[in-house]
Amino acid sequence: MKLILCKTYEEMSSAAADEIAELLQVNPHCTLGLATGSTPVGMYRQLVRRYEKGELDFSEVTTFNLDEYYPISPKNDQSYYYFMHENLFDHINVAPENINIPNGSAPDPLAECRYYEDKLTANGFVDLQVLGIGQNGHIGFNEPDGCLYASTHITELTESTITANSRFFESEDDVPRKALTMGIGTILKSKKILLLANGKAKHDAISALLDDRITTAIPATILKTHPNVILICDEEAYYG
Ligand code: GLP
Repeated sequence: MKLILCKTYEEMSSAAADEIAELLQVNPHCTLGLATGSTPVGMYRQLVRRYEKGELDFSEVTTFNLDEYYPISPKNDQSYYYFMHENLFDHINVAPENINIPNGSAPDPLAECRYYEDKLTANGFVDLQVLGIGQNGHIGFNEPDGCLYASTHITELTESTITANSRFFESEDDVPRKALTMGIGTILKSKKILLLANGKAKHDAISALLDDRITTAIPATILKTHPNVILICDEEAYYG
């Protein structure tokens, strides 16, 4: 795992945007795997700025998002559909038909998971997957458990994630209890992975990523088996 240690959140966001810009330059038809949460917001801001300056072109890009709450309407301002449009898609020239996000209002969630995984498979998965990390070490919504799941699936959120994510909702009761998420196998099929982490709250998860353990209790530790991961983090996440 390659480490890019940054002094500030801005520096981190810019380093992450550099990775995407580099990929777009060599492969304008690339597929980006995208993440939500507060961590990548600065990177999205950078990408929008660079697009506005005419430095980036997303017209041929395909995107697949990692996850979505279930059930949730795309109109709900806490849905990842809403988040992605607000923070990125509405401000760049990505073609709407090239945007893929698990459908949080699908009547049959299992069928939606199969459809999403099949679409990823047909696409050859993603060239670059951006990941944040939960305080408990989750990636996407692959929560700590006795076993992990390989492909896109529906999952129950842990109490720790519900509490952590409740800061975005009016109350903890409003946080959906389930989510649709790419599986660990789906994520590991990405050609390259960019894991972003900032702040002290992520220190324990990042420490586990940097020692030699691989455990389903901290799902991100499985990234140690992937040959092309870049960890971009700030000093608080790294040193605690
Ligand atoms: C959510 C998302 C993850 C994200 C994580 C961390 O639960 N499903 O993809 O990485 O939270 O969020 P934040 O960046 O806000 O700390």
